[in-house]
Amino acid sequence: MSESGIGERKGDHIDLAARGDVGFRVNATLFSCVKLVHEALPDLHADAIDTGVTLLGKRLRAPLVIAAMTGGIPRAESINRELAAIAEARGYGFGLGSQRAMHVDAAKGSTYRVREVAPTALVLGNLGLVQARALPTSAIAELVAAIGADALCVHLNPAMEIVQPGGDRDFAAGEETLARLARELPVPVVAKETGCGVSAATARRIRRAGVRHLDVSGAGGTSWVAVEMHRAAGAERALGEALREWGIPTAASVALCAPVGFDGLIATGGVATGLDVARALALGAHAAGIARPVLQALLDGGREGAERYLAGVEAELRAVMLLVGARDVAALRRAPRVVTGELAEWIAQAR
Ligand SMILES: Cc1cc2nc3c(=O)[nH]c(=O)nc-3n(C[C@H](O)[C@H](O)[C@H](O)COP(=O)(O)O)c2cc1C
Repeated sequence: MSESGIGERKGDHIDLAARGDVGFRVNATLFSCVKLVHEALPDLHADAIDTGVTLLGKRLRAPLVIAAMTGGIPRAESINRELAAIAEARGYGFGLGSQRAMHVDAAKGSTYRVREVAPTALVLGNLGLVQARALPTSAIAELVAAIGADALCVHLNPAMEIVQPGGDRDFAAGEETLARLARELPVPVVAKETGCGVSAATARRIRRAGVRHLDVSGAGGTSWVAVEMHRAAGAERALGEALREWGIPTAASVALCAPVGFDGLIATGGVATGLDVARALALGAHAAGIARPVLQALLDGGREGAERYLAGVEAELRAVMLLVGARDVAALRRAPRVVTGELAEWIAQAR
């Protein structure tokens, strides 16, 4: 794709995510099927609750990652810097959008550089698996080093590409590419979906490839098929309409991938509240990622609006931790929970 094509697409993505009709309508996260068991006798002080976790070698003050969104266009620079500064101040992880644009044009690197405002935060680089396949590891290592990232998210997005006008069609040698990067890159690799989730079988292949971190990015939040559908016409638009609900619900994906045994399992996709975060952790995630709701809060209310939204998520998580009697995240991950309805069916049938 041409440079101007990439830039236009990135701008469309921000506009559509901010204001478009791009959510799943029917296929929900299924977090509502997770009932955490109330503890009437918590036996701890609310102020003693510790929400801290270690992810990818860095200590986060709360188990939250602002998930990958943007880079490569002027608007992206301020979005990335605002969000990275929030991650630094509040002790979250921060994911940059696909670095493809800076690979094509090194001058675009400035739109991804956030270390000035986030010197210590966990910062995640990002590249598509198909782009990574075509590049030598040394070139990818340079992209990572140029922004000082702690790890590289390699995104898997076949559903989005298949609907995207001019999108990729060749997804061969993906596992091999992940194995090469896990072996040769100087930083950890995070395999990351973008809103369709990861199955248990795929998680096992990813783990066998030597990748120790997974962001399931499941269905129920932003539908990337819906985003691309809005940009498409003709046959691709029809395909987008048919497949906009495609994907494994986030809660199902977390529950199915947790037993595979990742060092870091991130639950992204439709996570919007502290209760969602708590439910994801109780299903086995180590942290939760939030993309579109953070972008919307930033675009609506500036840095203050985004901070207010995230502080609310944290406050809700802390309240839920108290109400299940979990002093820390390790205790929350062991908290008793009842899995009901459709989620129970997913777990029983899709192992
Ligand atoms: C505007 C926007 C741009 C995105 N760009 C990327 C990207 O470049 N790379 C990536 O791995 N995921 C990208 N994503 C996907 C998110 O990281 C996330 O996996 C997905 O949106 C589901 O989370 P949500 O329901 O909280 O939005 C993007 C999301 C948004 C909203």
